[in-house]
Amino acid sequence: MGHGICQLFAQTGKYNVTLRDVEQQFIDNGMKMITESLQRFVQKGSISQIESREILKRIHPTLDPNEAFQKADLIVEAVTEDPRVKKEVIIQADKLAQPHTIIASNTSTISITEIASVTRRPEKVCGMHFFNPPQLMKLIEIVRGKDTSSETVNVIERTAISLGKEPLIVNKDSPGFIVNRVLIPALNEASFLVENGVAKPEDVDKGCVLALNWPMGPLKLLDYIGIDTVVSIADVMVQRTGDQKFLPSQLLRRMVSENRLGRKTGKGFYDWAKRDDV
Ligand code: CAA
Repeated sequence: MGHGICQLFAQTGKYNVTLRDVEQQFIDNGMKMITESLQRFVQKGSISQIESREILKRIHPTLDPNEAFQKADLIVEAVTEDPRVKKEVIIQADKLAQPHTIIASNTSTISITEIASVTRRPEKVCGMHFFNPPQLMKLIEIVRGKDTSSETVNVIERTAISLGKEPLIVNKDSPGFIVNRVLIPALNEASFLVENGVAKPEDVDKGCVLALNWPMGPLKLLDYIGIDTVVSIADVMVQRTGDQKFLPSQLLRRMVSENRLGRKTGKGFYDWAKRDDV
């Protein structure tokens, strides 16, 4: 989601953005996705070609953590949904960033209190949870950790509004926050329907689109978010709640081991290489 978040900040015209990743190929891919997304806005007429170029100029890609963290007023962490990896990145950001800098995590379910505990600034750490695709989805969940200050929450709330989003404050650092607490069991249940041979993916999706007015069915959404991401979120929810009801299906686990992760690897419940069948 990192590229979408960078694009969103740059698109407002209010922020200079540094996009940092650990390998050049990830940066190149992120910049390609941003360029494609901006092109869609140009085609729609919501921005001009000149504006699109200016937005791109506001995004500075780098592999260098010093360049990324030292001058930032706000760091939005959007690395893989693995507590160990997240903490490593947050420790590095905390070490290199200026004292006033706020560190926001785009985690989907990991405890903000736990993430903040590895820093020297827990009062300046909070959740800033975007939804995919961040360029289009209206909501940002702002999650208050045990030590997050009200000032930090206020700054992030104002930032979310400046991005044209609707903020929602999650007062208790609870697993899955609000949206994923509802969404992840629904996505998992949809995968059980396929695993148990009740219906094929297209029909499970058709049911939810036509009967529930979902914009896309749960299996297409699983592909869209990334099967590995959903499995990680579900696993963290089991760990944090101790409740086995969040356990991901065997089908989802098998898809992860086969690298059928959805849109990002070209294959999931659907074949994303054939663009017109998704
Ligand atoms: N950048 C720019 N524009 C984009 C875009 C992008 N990345 N993706 C789609 N669009 C535009 C299209 O150009 C199109 O514009 P017009 O209507 O003006 O022609 C419009 O958005 C609709 O796109 P599509 O017709 O291609 O497809 P769609 O109607 O299915 O809409 C969607 C796409 C907005 C993603 C919609 O399907 C949707 O809302 N899906 C559900 C997404 C969702 O549930 N997200 C939350 C996931 S949970 C999560 O992210 C959190 C977590 O922790 C797991």
